[in-house]
Amino acid sequence: MTAPQTIGVIGAGTMGNGIAQVCALAGMSVVMLDVDEKRVARGREAIAGGLERLVMKTKLSAAERDAALGRLRGATDYGALGDADVIIEAATEDEALKIKILRQADAVAKEGAIVATNTSSISITKLAAALGRPADFVGLHFFNPVPLMALVEVVRGRQTSDATVEAASALARRVGKTPVVVKDSPGFVVNRLLCPMLNEAVLAYGEGIASARDIDEAMKLGCNHPIGPLALADLIGVDVLLAVMEVFHREFKDPKYRPAPLLKEMVAEGRLGRKSGRGFYTYT
Ligand SMILES: NC(=O)c1ccc[n+]([C@@H]2O[C@H](COP(=O)([O-])OP(=O)(O)OC[C@H]3O[C@@H](n4cnc5c(N)ncnc54)[C@H](O)[C@@H]3O)[C@@H](O)[C@H]2O)c1
Repeated sequence: MTAPQTIGVIGAGTMGNGIAQVCALAGMSVVMLDVDEKRVARGREAIAGGLERLVMKTKLSAAERDAALGRLRGATDYGALGDADVIIEAATEDEALKIKILRQADAVAKEGAIVATNTSSISITKLAAALGRPADFVGLHFFNPVPLMALVEVVRGRQTSDATVEAASALARRVGKTPVVVKDSPGFVVNRLLCPMLNEAVLAYGEGIASARDIDEAMKLGCNHPIGPLALADLIGVDVLLAVMEVFHREFKDPKYRPAPLLKEMVAEGRLGRKSGRGFYTYT
C-alpha cells in the first residue's frame, strides 16, 4: 500500500481524538466521525487544546497548528469515510456496537482500504469475521494519552494479511510511534502483563501487607516505575481493571487471573478511582 493520504477515525472520544490529532500532525487528512455534531465538536476542541499546549511548549509553531487543524474534518455520516485509505475504529468498547460500526465502515470503505480497531479487549479475529475483507482488518492498539505514549500494538487476527500488518506498522511509525506486532490474544502484551500486576497489588493491599502509599512507594523505588500500581489502578479506573481481569479469568480459564475480591467490592461501592473522586486514594 502506498502511504495513506486520508485517515478516517470513528469515535471522537479520548482515544479517537488523540488518534486524529497525531494523524493530522503527521500531515494526513483526517475525517473524525461520531454519532452527533456535539461529540464531534467536543473531539475537535480537545484536539485544538492539545495542539495549543504544544504551541505553548514551543514544540509546534502556530502555522503548524493551523495546518493540522485545517486537515481535520468532522462527520456524522459514514459516507464521509469513502475517501479514507485507513479507517480506525475507536468507539465505545462494546462488541455488538463495534460489529455494527465496522459493517457500516466496511460498506463505504474504498477498494484496498485498511480497516482497523483500537479495541483493548475484543478479539480481532472475531470482529474480522463480521467483515467482508478480513485480510484487510487489523488491531491498532494505541495507548492513552495518544499524543504522549510511544507504543502501538499492531494486532494480527488469524486472517490479517502480512501486507496489512506492514501497512499498519508503517502508519504507526509515521505518527511517531513504535509498533510491536502481537498475536490476537486477550490483553495483547501490555495489558496481559500489567493488569495481573495491578491485581496482585490490590490482593497485597487487601491482605494488609502494606498501606496503599507504601505499596506504591515500594514499586516506584524498587522497580523504578514512574507511578505505583494502586495509583495507576485509580487512573485507569477500578471498574476497567476489574473488567479486564474478568475477561482474562473467563478466556484463559486459569485461576491465576482471579480478580481481587476487593476490586469487586470497590466497584459495587462506586469507588472507581480518579473518575469518581475515590479509589485507593481520595481526589478532590
Ligand atoms: N481510554 C483508554 O485508556 C483506552 C486505551 C486503549 C484503547 N482504548 C479503546 O479505545 C476505544 C475508545 O475508548 P475511549 O476511551 O476513547 O472511549 P470514549 O468513551 O472516550 O469515546 C468513545 C466515543 O465513541 C463514540 N461512539 C459511540 N457509538 C458510536 C457510533 N455508532 N459511531 C461513531 N462513534 C460512536 C462515542 O460517542 C464516544 O465519543 C475503546 O475500544 C477502548 O477499549 C481505550
